[in-house]
Parts: sequence; structure tokens; C-alpha cells
Amino acid sequence: MKKKDQGTGREFKMAETGKVNLLWWVLLCLIILFLLDLNVNFTGQMWDQLDMATSKRLQKQRQNSSDAVFGGQGRLVTAAENVTSLPSLPSELRTMGQNWSLSSGDSCTKPVTNFVFIKVHKTGSDSTAVILLRFAYNHHMTMCYGTNGMRLTFPRTEIYKTNCARWKVFENRFNFLVQHTVFNKTLMDRIMTPGTRYIGIMREPLSHFRSQFFYFEKPLRYGLTKSRNPLGDFLDNPERYEHELALTENIGRSRERNKQAYVMGFPPHLLGTQDTRLMDNLIKQLDQWYTFVIISEYYDESLVMLRRRLCWGLFDILHANKKVNKQHNRQEYVPLTVKQLENHRRINTIDLRMYDFFNRTFWRSVEQETRKGFWEEVTYFKEVVKRVNTFCSKRTKEKHLEIPTSKWNKPFSVNGDFCGGLSRNPKIWAKKLFDQMVQSVKKRQHL
Ligand SMILES: *[C@@H]1O[C@H](CO)[C@@H](O)[C@H](O)[C@H]1NC(C)=O
Ligand SMILES: *[C@@H]1O[C@H](CO)[C@@H](O)[C@H](O)[C@H]1NC(C)=O
Ligand SMILES: *[C@@H]1O[C@H](CO)[C@@H](O)[C@H](O)[C@H]1NC(C)=O
Ligand SMILES: *[C@@H]1O[C@H](CO)[C@@H](O)[C@H](O)[C@H]1NC(C)=O
Ligand SMILES: *[C@@H]1O[C@H](CO)[C@@H](O)[C@H](O)[C@H]1NC(C)=O
Repeated sequence: MKKKDQGTGREFKMAETGKVNLLWWVLLCLIILFLLDLNVNFTGQMWDQLDMATSKRLQKQRQNSSDAVFGGQGRLVTAAENVTSLPSLPSELRTMGQNWSLSSGDSCTKPVTNFVFIKVHKTGSDSTAVILLRFAYNHHMTMCYGTNGMRLTFPRTEIYKTNCARWKVFENRFNFLVQHTVFNKTLMDRIMTPGTRYIGIMREPLSHFRSQFFYFEKPLRYGLTKSRNPLGDFLDNPERYEHELALTENIGRSRERNKQAYVMGFPPHLLGTQDTRLMDNLIKQLDQWYTFVIISEYYDESLVMLRRRLCWGLFDILHANKKVNKQHNRQEYVPLTVKQLENHRRINTIDLRMYDFFNRTFWRSVEQETRKGFWEEVTYFKEVVKRVNTFCSKRTKEKHLEIPTSKWNKPFSVNGDFCGGLSRNPKIWAKKLFDQMVQSVKKRQHL
């Protein structure tokens, strides 16, 4: 009896614990289902929207894409599908993009952290400067900093370490330069740490000419403020206006011609040449020295290319889609006559040939990268830029915006601080970076 009792007692207990276990399992399953559902609602929507936004534009590219980013049934397979397993990131973003190796066949492991940006006026270079300044700040880079706003040595073609603030403290450590200079490889190589890369930027020469003409108040300079079409008037007879100005201001070279080429490092004493072979040879020489030249007309594409060249993360190239220094002047867009256009081309031949050269170079490299999912990345990048800008323009409840991992980025999040920096004036960014440099030196001295 005792044995039996004990037996049934144990059986009873086992049956009971079985029931309890079952209940626990059911409860656990319910909780898991609930959590999964929450996640799907939470992140699924956002990626569905992204999918819808991208799918139309990408249908064509998708068909030819050798990359496996896109799945069947027109669905964008992003790592968002793995979103449930995303680690939540601390808001500290400084290490983002570091040592991020690309999955798309690139073998880079270490981001380039020493570079000079040749900042050409009126090309979108302010927006680019902001991106580079943020990167330099996040990577504690040491900038050759000029205290005169965004001007370092421009329009001079020479640059020495003494142009950099506190050069005695930072000497031999400069690995970043972004303010206005004129490219002079020989002299810049002497200031910067060995292996420094050069990045340039160019804009389609006619729109550049129009833009700088009004930005630098040329109508005033040439006494054309009363004209209905100052740009056209100037281009009707550029020599006459330049001659008059040269006489009154006693300057040797023309201030209007080939300004992009000048800043990009075309030898100043040869800017007057008519020899197109010589021009092309000098342009090819410059090409050897630049790691990459951004083409303003293809800005997002250029940034993606830059990211690939410098082994950066997607986070590093995020930008404000409202341009930092955009100005509109109705006179800028007045149509020009055939003769005016011809004169523009005649006096800016080097800019035109140089732009053409770098634009062609750019598209050749796009062709090469297409096999490595270049266009998919551009599309993805544009969507992320849009999302980040939307978040930054109407930050309400959410403190962070989390961008999950993808083929091109580790997961990262942006917050209010980031948003503040996204559209910060480059001059203020530069000062902020310089302050950080000074602080870190002070800290080191105290140790
Ligand atoms: C896709 O590839 C085919 C054949 O290579 C080509 O004819 C077509 O133009 C390509 N389409 C796009 C959108 O690139
Ligand atoms: C999702 O995660 C699995 C396992 O970690 C991985 O094999 C797969 O490539 C991931 N998918 C994407 C799109 O990243
Ligand atoms: C990045 O890589 C370098 C060398 O490959 C290493 O010294 C450094 O610690 C790495 N940084 C991070 C954040 O992993
Ligand atoms: C760079 O500076 C040197 C030294 O002053 C000068 O001789 C040379 O012409 C400059 N090069 C350019 C491209 O401005
Ligand atoms: C740049 O090059 C591409 C490809 O050759 C060409 O289609 C485009 O018209 C060029 N852009 C400009 C502004 O000249």
C-alpha cells in the first residue's frame, strides 16, 4: 500500500508538474508571439515603405543586378529582415564606420583617416565640408586650421605649416585640411602626414560660372547692377570688362576664367594657354594626385563612391539634403545667347576639359563598381538620407532613429546631437574640431 501510495503520489505530482510545464510553455509562446508581432508592426512598416519607395525605381536595375541584394517577387531583401536580432546601440557614434569591411568584394578593413579636401567655391563644397568635418571630429583628426573662417590660404597657391594655427603644437601630425586653399601637392605633402589622400570636387562649368558670378557680386564689380542680364552682358564681351577691371585694380591674371581648374591645382602660369594637348596632359597629371573627385551633379553617387574609396561606413557620408549654402538669384537663370555661351566656353576651356575628364573618370569607376552593387547601395543610401533628414527635421517623440544593419552598414542610430551637426555651418564645425584638438593636447600634457 505504502509503495503504491507513494507511486500514485509521484505519478500525481508528475502529472501536475506536466500541466504546469505546459501552461508555462503556452504562456511563453504567447509572449514570444506578442513580441514578434510588436516588432513586425514596429519595424516592418518602415521597411515596407522603404521597399515601396525603392521598388519602382529599382525594377530596371534589379533585373540586371548580379548582386543578391534583391530577392524574388520584387522584394527588397535588406538586413531589416534580421531586425529582430538587432543589438540596440548606445548613442555614442564615434566608432561607427570603423574597420567596417565591405561584403561586396572589397577587401578594405581600415578607413582612410588622412586626407585633404580641395574646396572649390560654389560646387556644393560646403555640404561636403560638413560631412568631412564630422568624420574628422569623430576620428579625432588633426586639422591644419586657419582662424579666418573657411579661408585658409586661398587665393594663394602656396601653403606652409605656419598657415596652420598652433602649428608648433601640432606639427607633423596634420592629417586633415578642409578650408579654402589652392591645391599644391608639393607643399601640402610637406605639411600633412605621409600618405595623405587628396579629394577634389567639380561642378558643370556653366552652372558653376553662373553661380559664382552672382555669389561673388560680379555685377557690382563690373558695373552691371542696372543691367537686366548682367551675366549675358559680361559674356557678350568678357575681354572688355576684364580689361577695365585689370586697369583699375592692377591685377595680372583674369579673375573670371577657369576658376575651378585654378583651385584644383592647374599650374597658374599656364591658365592662359590655348594648347588643348598641354591642358589635357596637365589634367592627367592632376588626376594622378587625386584619390577621388566628387562630381556635384551626381552628389549621392559620388559620396557612395567616396565611401568605397576611403573604406568608410554609410554613416560617415550622411548629409543634410537641404544644401548648406544654397542661394537663388533669378538673373542667374536668364537664358544666354549662342554667342554668350560660346564666349563662356572660350574663356573657360580648361574648366570644361577638366570637368569632362573627371566626369568621364567618375562614370568609368561607376561602371566598375556596378558589379559590386553600386546602384543598389546608392538607392539604399538615398532612402537612409531621406529618413535621417525627416527624423532630424521633425524630431518629436523618438530620441533616436535606428538604422538596422545592411549590406553596406553596421547598424547605427542617430540622435539630436547628430542632427545638430548635420546642418552645422562648416565654419562652426571647424572651430569645434580645433577646440577638440586643443583639448586633447591639454589632456595629454596633464597625464
Ligand atoms: C539589362 O541588360 C540587358 C542585356 O545585357 C540590356 O540590354 C539592358 O539595357 C539592361 N537594362 C538596364 C536597365 O540596364
Ligand atoms: C540574416 O541573418 C542570417 C543569420 O544570421 C544571415 O545568414 C543572413 O545573411 C542575414 N540576412 C541578411 C539580409 O543580412
Ligand atoms: C581597426 O583596425 C586596426 C588595425 O587593423 C586596429 O589597430 C584597431 O584597433 C581597429 N579599431 C577598431 C575600433 O576595431
Ligand atoms: C606650389 O608652390 C610652389 C612654391 O611656391 C610654386 O613654385 C608652384 O608653382 C606651386 N604650384 C601650384 C600648382 O600652384
Ligand atoms: C557626365 O558623364 C555622363 C556619362 O558619360 C554623361 O551622360 C553626362 O552628360 C555628363 N554630365 C555632364 C554634366 O556633362
